[in-house]
Amino acid sequence: QSSLRLGLAGLGTVGASVVRLLAKHGDDLAVRCGRRISLRAVSARDRTRDRGIDLANVNWFQDPVKLAANPDIDVFVELIGGASGPAEESVRTALEHGKHVVTANKALLARHGVELARLAEKKGVSLNFEAAVAGGIPIIKTLREALAGNEITRLAGILNGTCNYILTRMERERISFDECLKDAQRLGYAEADPTFDVGGFDTAHKLALLTSLAFGSEIDVDQIFIEGITSIGLPDIEAADELGYRIKLLAIAEKNEGGIEQRVHPTLVPKTSAIGRVDGVLNAVAVDADFVGKLMLVGPGAGGDATASSVVGDIADIARGTALNTMGRPAEQMKPYRKSDVESH
Ligand code: HSE
Repeated sequence: QSSLRLGLAGLGTVGASVVRLLAKHGDDLAVRCGRRISLRAVSARDRTRDRGIDLANVNWFQDPVKLAANPDIDVFVELIGGASGPAEESVRTALEHGKHVVTANKALLARHGVELARLAEKKGVSLNFEAAVAGGIPIIKTLREALAGNEITRLAGILNGTCNYILTRMERERISFDECLKDAQRLGYAEADPTFDVGGFDTAHKLALLTSLAFGSEIDVDQIFIEGITSIGLPDIEAADELGYRIKLLAIAEKNEGGIEQRVHPTLVPKTSAIGRVDGVLNAVAVDADFVGKLMLVGPGAGGDATASSVVGDIADIARGTALNTMGRPAEQMKPYRKSDVESH
């Protein structure tokens, strides 16, 4: 079979890791998928920056939209970020041109996911986004495929690596919020604008996607109650610590009679609980479902290599021809989101 030709837009932390991963594991991926995955073209703002990756045989595009429309690629990998602008325009262009799309862009999907899923279906291509939620944890595949035989009743988790890293270091080392945030940025965990992390918005974008997959409803980020961690200081952390608790930024979605309640806020959790032990850049997602019961996935929630692992898993699905409907069901079968009228938090 001919090779699967990739165009990759965005060479930040995750993009550079994807290039390295493909170089390191290219031969093994070819065996697993039955065909080679070949990086044909990239697009990034700065061509001169040394990223420590070999792009000698790869075409450069200044404009990601032109790359998305290029007839010499089969898959467009969008790692630019942002709910609008070049990311949105290039993803739409790629789908319109009948190309599969792999994206890590939770902000884009939280806003336009239903519409983009519809477009992908109309064009008969895949729109995969494992890397958009909880970095290296395969939670999309888990909800969309492995748990397809269940009715899910509740999801709860830690979905932002930056916030969990900050809260963990504040507790362990008693250093300031600002210092921890700077380190999270230096380590490549934070969003380009870290307000998305610490304000809880990134967590809300991810929760909106998981809610849709778990409950079959349309994505609705505007209905989420959001409180971030910006008002948490060392005195709060110390007080929680003395009582045997930790503060975690939790994302919760649960089904009750009125509909589905979604919320994001700092929560006191016992230090000895499973979620209380999820520390540093780790994320966790706990799922309650009728047949499987309760399960929890834990793993790195941010960082180049862990996120690249999810991006390449999606690409491998496309190479094998096993990628599924974007939201685990045809877009027209998604139910309108109905918010629970139960008082939140
Ligand atoms: N800024 C995000 C986080 C990156 O810290 O979790 C992964 O989506």
